[in-house]
Amino acid sequence: MTFEKIYQYNFPTIIRFGMRSSKELGDYLIKNDLQRPLIVTDPNVSQLGFFKELVGDIKRKNISAEVFHDIHKNPVKSDAESIATGKELWGQHCKSCHGTKGVGDGPKAAQLKTEPGDFSKADFQGQPDGSIFYKTSEGRDDMPSFKKKIPDADERWSIVNYIRTFKK
Ligand code: HEC
Repeated sequence: MTFEKIYQYNFPTIIRFGMRSSKELGDYLIKNDLQRPLIVTDPNVSQLGFFKELVGDIKRKNISAEVFHDIHKNPVKSDAESIATGKELWGQHCKSCHGTKGVGDGPKAAQLKTEPGDFSKADFQGQPDGSIFYKTSEGRDDMPSFKKKIPDADERWSIVNYIRTFKK
């Protein structure tokens, strides 16, 4: 391995690293029509120069990137009890749009302006628990915020555990 070269892996999602590889990100997002990326990292990395530079580079390309850096581990163990809780909440709050198995085919899906996505896919499942938790809590456009509707954070983490069972 040498730092002069940029390496690429494709499991579970594309990973590229090497000197200046972060400079490719803006053009990659534009090419793939990803106009509103959520950049997920931890509190330490978010303070580093390279990270601030990366976010600045993207914003200069007029991409409205949002940064979430409060990432931490899932505090709720993924045991049978948590998965059962998650399943019940999924049925009450999520299934109508995301469908029984999370593939995005719920009865309300057709009326949505944005596609709810397919949660069985590797690119969805490749994100950390904290990212799924954040998106569930905050919402965006047609995706409601669940901070108030499901005020118990541990219950929202249990939904994340249940969502992991959709993985193909
Ligand atoms: C009214 C329909 C609706 C309901 C109900 C709903 N969602 Fe969503 N959800 C969406 C839409 C639409 C998106 C895509 C939003 C976007 O891309 O801006 C989305 C996106 C998401 C994402 C991000 C997907 C990704 O690709 O990373 C997660 C995670 C998510 N929803 C989880 C949930 C959970 C968990 C529940 C239940 C607690 C829920 N949603 C309930 C419509 C819904």
